[in-house]
Amino acid sequence: MATSRRRSRAHNLKDSAGSYGRLPSFDINDLRQSLLSWYRQSGRDLPWRQSRDPYAIWVSEIMLQQTQVKTVIPYYQRWLQQFPTIQDLAESDQQQVLKTWQGLGYYARARNLYRAAQQIVQQYGGEFPDQLEAVMALPGIGRTTAGGILSAAFHQPTPILDGNVKRVLTRLAALKVPPSRAIAQLWKLSETILDPDSPRDFNQALMDLGATLCTVHNPNCPNCPWNRPCQAYNLGIQSQLPMTESHPPLPRKSIGVAVIWNGEGQILIDRRPQSGLLGGLWEFPGGKLEPGETIEACIQREIREELGIEIEVGDRLITVDHTYSHFHVTLNVHHCRHISGEPQPIECDEVRWVTLAEIDQYPFPKANLQIIEALRQDASGS
Ligand code: ADE
Repeated sequence: MATSRRRSRAHNLKDSAGSYGRLPSFDINDLRQSLLSWYRQSGRDLPWRQSRDPYAIWVSEIMLQQTQVKTVIPYYQRWLQQFPTIQDLAESDQQQVLKTWQGLGYYARARNLYRAAQQIVQQYGGEFPDQLEAVMALPGIGRTTAGGILSAAFHQPTPILDGNVKRVLTRLAALKVPPSRAIAQLWKLSETILDPDSPRDFNQALMDLGATLCTVHNPNCPNCPWNRPCQAYNLGIQSQLPMTESHPPLPRKSIGVAVIWNGEGQILIDRRPQSGLLGGLWEFPGGKLEPGETIEACIQREIREELGIEIEVGDRLITVDHTYSHFHVTLNVHHCRHISGEPQPIECDEVRWVTLAEIDQYPFPKANLQIIEALRQDASGS
């Protein structure tokens, strides 16, 4: 209690590059109160904010790590219907978990939720832990996610620092280095300004400020509760901050993909190994185009290497462009006919022949859903 009543002025921040981010002289209680009263009037009414269940809040925080609020809401609601408790999640099978996540991307999040649920059942009897260290030891939970969960579910004064909050604080202190070079200072600032009497609302408010007013482009400074203490606004440099780091362009991979038909109208699909991108999801088999190789030759070679079978490569079905976090991919998809050999799971965990009607039971990456849609259109048109 006492700390929140203490008055502090002139917070200085020195960043790793040696330049200073300086907050103007301000009353920390004014800073907290102005944000909290803005939040109580203008904060978003989001489904996880009705809950105090650490499990539901944990699920929302994981979904929100790389996905926008409006996309998350229906997934969050479906997830809790499907897996109402940690115990339910821990006891379900991984395919069902991935199927429920299908379309949200970054599937490691779903695999980690599932593994963490099993750990929580084993180590804590199914009760979500309330100690920062224990929470951060769970798969998929870093400091900001742990801070978000503990403040929202247990009302603990744990700071947060997600992408939106980094931007808000970088502007507040007018940090003239990219946030990635001032991480320790930003954590310190988040910790310093957090209201110990209202950590739940304060952290939610900070996130809302970043999402609704202190946006990347055209920040709405005239309506911001922090425009007076905001150093960037006072200097008129809010649109120049945060400074960005230059990234090399993403590499592009071209992939030959086979929709292999057998004589019974079934298609061959395979399940990707657990480790790595899209682990545990199903896909149409294929692989990377080598320099100078035609798509047809690539498909034939990959299918021989990965599944040990011979196929005939036929007409092109569709070309799909998709961007993952670290590369762009082009899927060059062809209809193929199975000629000989029993498919072997040489570079995958499992192979299966399925009909188009059965295929919806299997979790596929988003880029593959376009292939399924094209197959459906083909089937309905012919
Ligand atoms: N992003 C991460 N956590 C969030 C939350 N609780 N509300 C809105 N956006 C968020």
